[in-house]
Amino acid sequence: MPDTITKLAYQALQQGKSYFGLAHKAVSTQVMQTVSPPKDLQTTPLDIKSLQLLQQRMGDLLERDWQDTEAGVYPKELLFDNPWDDFFRFYPLVCLDLPQIWERLNKRDHHRFSDDIDTAGYPKYYLQNFHHQTDGYLSDMSANLYDLQVEILFNGTADPMRRRILAPLKQGLAAAGVEDGAKVLDVACGTGRTLGMIRDALPKTSLYGVDLSPTYLRKANENLLAKPGLLPQLVQANGESLPFVDNYFDGVVSVFLFHELPAVARQNVINEMYRVVKPGGTVVLCDSIQRLDSPEFEAAMENFPAMFHEPYYRHYTTDDLNLRLTDVGFESVSNQVHFMSKYWVCRKPAAV
Ligand SMILES: C[S@@+](CC[C@H](N)C(=O)[O-])C[C@H]1O[C@@H](n2cnc3c(N)ncnc32)[C@H](O)[C@@H]1O
Repeated sequence: MPDTITKLAYQALQQGKSYFGLAHKAVSTQVMQTVSPPKDLQTTPLDIKSLQLLQQRMGDLLERDWQDTEAGVYPKELLFDNPWDDFFRFYPLVCLDLPQIWERLNKRDHHRFSDDIDTAGYPKYYLQNFHHQTDGYLSDMSANLYDLQVEILFNGTADPMRRRILAPLKQGLAAAGVEDGAKVLDVACGTGRTLGMIRDALPKTSLYGVDLSPTYLRKANENLLAKPGLLPQLVQANGESLPFVDNYFDGVVSVFLFHELPAVARQNVINEMYRVVKPGGTVVLCDSIQRLDSPEFEAAMENFPAMFHEPYYRHYTTDDLNLRLTDVGFESVSNQVHFMSKYWVCRKPAAV
């Protein structure tokens, strides 16, 4: 396919996802207002300037995504990698799950798990219905619906935002002379979307993923098995105490984890990342934008934890992770902001 056609196809796909996400949210909000109007839900509508800026930033993100494939950072096929089977199997369940979500929202019930779920052994902060997810992160159904729900939330830009970690990761590994055969860990790998992307961008890498959720790891295994390539090693573990020896990985990444951690756990995860990455190794983090550098989206950052259950988000948006990273010993800390996400790229000092 000539490149202009491929680019148009990519833009059309993203446009379709964006309209779908907007339509889903508009219809579900209407239905919620009719059948289960939320009590005391205080949100601020975004003004036209913020909406235009969001639109422009989304366009910039997609253009960067395209440019990275042109530059060979990852294959163009990744742009079209969409879990269609899951979409058709699970979208009806996403809709059927909504009344339960609205009920918990209205009752402010954020700690509900089905009776058959074993909640023993998890940190207290984890045992919550983050973004009103039924059964939190602890059921197969939650794992099956998660990617779809995130795609709807971000109007189809979750994967383009995840892919922004690939260029700095590749650059970091190349600078350390280990682009081929490196060992890379994804902390809180969830259903394995980021691991799949790293595998496509760096096919010779040995990949590892940890997550606290056994059901999300099962889903990650299923997703990663469905495509060709080396199978990452998936381990159920807390990012606060990684089950790896010191100086083991050439690269460590994490996507959309930090806003769901209390401050102490955020620091513990950073300490652990520092411990397990080799001298000269690279760490790349991706999470939500913060008040520190995106004050123009103040209202969106206020609305997010009000509409979705995100108990640690407000603190996260003011938490200076650059300071946390440098305090633990990382150097060359730099930041990027793309659409609604922010990135931290840093390196553990090389051994002398
Ligand atoms: C918002 S999801 C992000 C998942 C994935 N990285 C992505 O890009 O979609 C947060 C993930 O963090 C995991 N998680 C939360 N706290 C954790 C911890 N302390 N250690 C390991 N995983 C954790 C959850 O189980 C969940 O899979």
